[in-house]
Amino acid sequence: MEEGPVVDEEYMKEIEKARRDLRALISSKSCAPIMLRLAWHDAGSYDAKTKTGGPNGSIRFEEEYSHSANAGLKIAIDLLEPVKAKHPKITYADLYQVITLYSANLGHFGSFTAFSYYSPLRYCRQLAGVVAVEVTGGPTIDFVPGRKDSSRCPEEGRLPDAKQGASHLREVFYRMGLSDKDIVALSGGHTLGRAHPERSGFDGAWTKDPLKFDNSYFIELLKEESEGLLKLPSDKTLVEDPVFRRYVELYAKDEDAFFKDYAESHKKLSELGFTPP
Ligand code: HEM
Repeated sequence: MEEGPVVDEEYMKEIEKARRDLRALISSKSCAPIMLRLAWHDAGSYDAKTKTGGPNGSIRFEEEYSHSANAGLKIAIDLLEPVKAKHPKITYADLYQVITLYSANLGHFGSFTAFSYYSPLRYCRQLAGVVAVEVTGGPTIDFVPGRKDSSRCPEEGRLPDAKQGASHLREVFYRMGLSDKDIVALSGGHTLGRAHPERSGFDGAWTKDPLKFDNSYFIELLKEESEGLLKLPSDKTLVEDPVFRRYVELYAKDEDAFFKDYAESHKKLSELGFTPP
């Protein structure tokens, strides 16, 4: 394990600067969905028992990004290299997770304003506050920096297989230390983006506006037929399993409940195995 970053004033200022670059990158390339998938795949390899994997930047290595579940993610890794080169102090692990905040919020709102800097502690509260005001009702994902980079890649096969059902999803997410509610809320990430035949073998988007972060994934999921839209077997499982279905129904009718649970679950995902310094 490499040394963790020293999270001092300078580090926080660097993060703030990097956030502006990330914002520009995401809006110019409309790449929010693939960035969200990158952050999730770096974090989702976590194994709570052995405390290996997790949001530690190890997906930047060929050994890991060449796992079949990660097909296409080299594009996101390469897009982020210039930001890393400009802000070398920031760990890959932090960089990959901080961008998610932009991915989710930009997906929904299309813009994001920089915030003022006071002190590390204030910064984090400040961030949540500003985002809350800024986005009026969108998912506010609190970001705490300080993740260590690791050069140890997890073995292949830790991420979920889209062709499988409820017991597989539970096995994979419970291994990370996450719950049934987390599984459904986080699957709402499919409100953004699409599947690409050359990456996963699946094709199409889950919602009519794949660059907008909202609860339409759950609304479409409850429809018998969603013409032209994608439902992976693992998505369908969420309406077939009675425990999962309760959350799907809640999120389809109450977007605020979805945003609240998504923000909580996403924070958990982005902090698996991470103890803030
Ligand atoms: C895309 C599977 C959970 C976010 C995909 C794709 C598959 C998949 C097969 C298509 C990849 C491609 O062809 O480009 C799964 C399975 C999950 C899961 C089986 C288990 C529950 C999640 C979670 C998130 C997420 C938890 C985020 C919190 C995304 C996003 C895309 C995507 C944003 C679109 C990427 C793009 O447009 O390039 N997922 N996923 N997924 N996934 Fe998931």
